Amino acid sequence: MSLRVAVVGCGTVGSQVVRLLTTQVEDLSARVGDRLELVGVADLNREAVIAQGVDPALVTDDAADLVTRADIVVELIGGAEPARRFMLAAMASGASVVTANKALLAADGPTLYDAAAAAGVDLYYEAAVAGAIPVVRVVREGMHGDQVKRVLGIVNGTTNYVLDTMASSDLDLERAVKDAQRLGYAEADPTADVEGHDAAAKAALLASMAFHSRVCLADVSCEGIGGVTADDVAWAARTGHVVKLLAVAERLDAGISVRVHPALVPLTHPLASVRGALNAVFIEAEHAGPIMLYGQGAGGEPTASAVVSDVVSAARNRVTGGQGPRESAYANVPVLPPEAAVSRFQVRMDVADRTGVLAKISAALADADVSIESVRQNPSPGPRGLAHLVITTHGATEAARVATIAALERLDVVDTVVSVLRVEGDML
Ligand code: HSE
Repeated sequence: MSLRVAVVGCGTVGSQVVRLLTTQVEDLSARVGDRLELVGVADLNREAVIAQGVDPALVTDDAADLVTRADIVVELIGGAEPARRFMLAAMASGASVVTANKALLAADGPTLYDAAAAAGVDLYYEAAVAGAIPVVRVVREGMHGDQVKRVLGIVNGTTNYVLDTMASSDLDLERAVKDAQRLGYAEADPTADVEGHDAAAKAALLASMAFHSRVCLADVSCEGIGGVTADDVAWAARTGHVVKLLAVAERLDAGISVRVHPALVPLTHPLASVRGALNAVFIEAEHAGPIMLYGQGAGGEPTASAVVSDVVSAARNRVTGGQGPRESAYANVPVLPPEAAVSRFQVRMDVADRTGVLAKISAALADADVSIESVRQNPSPGPRGLAHLVITTHGATEAARVATIAALERLDVVDTVVSVLRVEGDML
């Protein structure tokens, strides 16, 4: 007897999964306690897979047939259909499923979790969040003796590279994106990364696992890095911060806040040191305190490492008669609307440089019930007679922040609200 493994989708990650399953078969089988056998690789482009050196006898373009002939099916097509259909067919025929499909899990995870539970098979998805970093295992299993309070993640390497390059090379966003494309981090169409959609799917998965509740993509309020300017990045450094695109999943008294947005992270926070295209996830738990995981969030070989690790877990469960973790949604905590999120924020504005200006501005913040933490004034680089004011606040709801900015824009002493960025990363 051996455990039959099928790989569906043989692109950048799939080809590396096939390679690792083949070259490491002795070690992997020893870890499983039974022989792992690659029984097929399905891809619409058979020739391309064969050209990679995969045994032609294993390669098929009939995924629907292959998924019914395996004990473990690795789904690496991505997207909704036909990936969902193949995964459901695999589970219905008794196979456990390993997938990296964050988009489908975030949009329609319950369909997959329910199908896995009904069939009594495993559903593993380590590679769906932060590539090689074993964050799914840590949040799903490593924290289940604790109460997670917040997860802050740099879970998109492309945008981290872009923001880091803007900071280190003084480039504007457009040129930094082009640089990321040249190096192969960003896609030809960088929308999903730049607008935060990729990070939002991962935020939904992290929030679901951390708070034992169903959180889907539609629950995540999402703002990408499109509005971040070179000036924002330079001012961040001047005020002791760095701009990062963060996925935030936070347990507030009334429910879960889950969001993706650019934020100022203090240079003293461990996430501030995450450079280039690397990813990191910072977990804060009641009893464990802070935990940070750091590593490669994308790329064929790193992501394949996470996928193959799931294959070993699923296979070992078959051998021992065990089961992997089920969906845990017992807490059923409500997801809060975006305006209930609480963050500090920093507003930069050009204001008249004359008597009484600060009094009017601080009154506008007080009226919105927003408390000022610090104020810094510099001569404005723009027209004469203006000052550049940088106000950092204490925590305020999104609703209060929006009301504050609207009130500031109405003041005759405010020439321009130049930029507003949330500040994240205060230790709980
Ligand atoms: N495009 C993603 C990133 C990797 O740049 O991190 C896949 O989720």
